[in-house]
Amino acid sequence: MVKIVVVTGSVRPNSAGQQVVPYVVKKLQEKDAVVSVADLSKLALPFFDSALPPSMEGFSPEHQSVLQWTTMVKEADGVVLVSPEYNHSLSGVQKNAIDWIYKEWEGKPVAFVGYGFYAAKHAYQHLELMNEVLHMKLIEPIAGLQFMQDLAVDGAVQDDEAVSKKIDATVSALIAAC
Ligand SMILES: Cc1cc2nc3c(=O)[nH]c(=O)nc-3n(C[C@H](O)[C@H](O)[C@H](O)COP(=O)(O)O)c2cc1C
Repeated sequence: MVKIVVVTGSVRPNSAGQQVVPYVVKKLQEKDAVVSVADLSKLALPFFDSALPPSMEGFSPEHQSVLQWTTMVKEADGVVLVSPEYNHSLSGVQKNAIDWIYKEWEGKPVAFVGYGFYAAKHAYQHLELMNEVLHMKLIEPIAGLQFMQDLAVDGAVQDDEAVSKKIDATVSALIAAC
């Protein structure tokens, strides 16, 4: 059984992601994955404040939450980023979480489930740029969920068939890559 961490992308109390994350978790569990959720509102990671970058020898974060987050990624066979699009990029809170880690990303199968008015395609473009440094194993296809088509703007599923198909394809590819 593969171990998958699903990462939230928003800490807003009424985040649309709160409806997307359980959908992704259910899809993974249906495929016998062991799933844990890295809820960034609960982890409350500090803004990156280390003297050394994570890519450097001797990098050793002391924050308990950063250690917990790093261990979650390290021990996972694969990761799903559930990402809103903020100003055509990933949310700041999710980028900060990604920035805290370096070597644990290398070769890690990472799937992207994005949502927004443009199906989070710009956010994914930023992740691809970040990946030129991080060397995750980005999984295709990504699941781009579009507001007012796939989802309502509050994140409620509007077109279950389309959402199911997109998430299914992404999580199946992720599990196959683990
Ligand atoms: C600061 C900010 C920037 C946003 N920029 C975009 C954007 O570039 N593209 C987009 O599709 N939606 C954008 N939105 C709308 C978000 O997609 C929408 O608010 C969504 O619900 C955010 O996800 P969340 O509810 O999980 O926080 C933006 C929202 C905020 C708060």
